[in-house]
Amino acid sequence: MDKILIQGGERLNGAVKVSGAKNAALPVIAACILTEGLHRLRNVPNLKDTTTIKLIMSRMGVVFQEEDGILSINSRKIRDCQASYDLVKTMRASILLLGPLLARFGRARISLPGGCAIGARPVDLHLKALSAMGVKMFLERGYINAEVSRLRGADIFFDIPTVTGTENVMMAASKAEGRTIIRNAAKEPEVQNLADMLRAMGVSIEGDGTDMIIVQGVETLNPAEELTIIPDRIEAGTFMIGVTMAGGELFVDGCRPEHMSAVIEKLQGVGAEIEKRPGGLLIKGPERIRSVDIETMPFPGFPTDLQAQFMSLMSIAQGSSIIRETIFENRFIHVSELRRMGADIRVHGNQAMVRGKDHLLAAPVMATDLRASASLILAGLVARGGITEVHRIYHLDRGYESMEEKFRSIGANIRRVKA
Ligand code: EPZ
Repeated sequence: MDKILIQGGERLNGAVKVSGAKNAALPVIAACILTEGLHRLRNVPNLKDTTTIKLIMSRMGVVFQEEDGILSINSRKIRDCQASYDLVKTMRASILLLGPLLARFGRARISLPGGCAIGARPVDLHLKALSAMGVKMFLERGYINAEVSRLRGADIFFDIPTVTGTENVMMAASKAEGRTIIRNAAKEPEVQNLADMLRAMGVSIEGDGTDMIIVQGVETLNPAEELTIIPDRIEAGTFMIGVTMAGGELFVDGCRPEHMSAVIEKLQGVGAEIEKRPGGLLIKGPERIRSVDIETMPFPGFPTDLQAQFMSLMSIAQGSSIIRETIFENRFIHVSELRRMGADIRVHGNQAMVRGKDHLLAAPVMATDLRASASLILAGLVARGGITEVHRIYHLDRGYESMEEKFRSIGANIRRVKA
């Protein structure tokens, strides 16, 4: 297995181009199942997770072609409506195939996604909503077997604003009979990007970005001529936290400040200077890192996907900070690895108390999930006393496009060692 080696202590200067958002690309690619024809997508990131969903859909008969930055998706001939366990177990977002398959074919057989390192990750809210739309389903050997003669619009209330749950229902509702209302809907920018895709396909949809989305089902949809995936606000935030830790000045090229208000506000509290510039953000790391409390919340609150990275930052802040994780039940796995680097962190339930240290110490550490691996890379950028080795970085490759190359291009002493 590959690992990443980092010699800490370098400041970061220059510009980094933000890739397309993983969590927008996955539902948008799944939405191509909704109708025949040739869809064309721009700015799709080249990640392990996007490769996985393309593999699952190719097995169904969907044809993918990439050239000149355009991903063409031909979903004319789909001969199979199932997503098998061997691939779903590597990416639970495969559940996003359920809505579009039911909308187009009235049937689907999807392996029930297992949990992952950060939590049980149930999909009960997805299934409850689809049942309300007339879907009959039963579990058999770990697979969800679902079928429906005709999806019907429904008034759905989500107990929790689930991102992929909202997206699954939006796609199912696109071809349902009548109107679907999604209350307590997720408001993430990635949900809005999917809404743009569905509108491009002829779906009447409004309220995306608010907690109430209304979808008017239509008989026939057309392929999306050209849809651009939004920039990845989590990748952008990861680099912004990196320069706040290491010092220096960085232009984050392509990020959308309106997607990152909570992160910008917290990093300014830490002491970073952040300015909007045409096409992105300019951020200058502070001489002194102030400690700041955070609590993860659904959008527009502080994103849970940046909690681990922010904890690395707080590990070298002046003072103590409280980090509350309110979205997932087990998203502090990075704590034990950061402790190996000398971080002073105490966990009590869903709260971590981080006492800032003057510096972290280089060490061999192990990535356990996607965002934890990013937090360890960030810690390595500032660690002293030698080389930090981050193992099991296949986690990192799921959600970041060549992160080490991007960090090296702005001055980090970082390289990947092939197994
Ligand atoms: C999406 O996951 C993202 N993944 C996650 O990003 C992100 O952390 C999460 O939203 C929260 O923002 C994709 O978009 C592919 P949820 P999702 O449903 O949709 C509970 C990353 O690192 N819940 O919004 O699975 C759930 O357990 C990944 O890129 C139920 O109880 O998250 C959690 O506590 C990690 N029942 C809360 O809701 C359900 O049916 C929010 O989960 C669904 C969710």
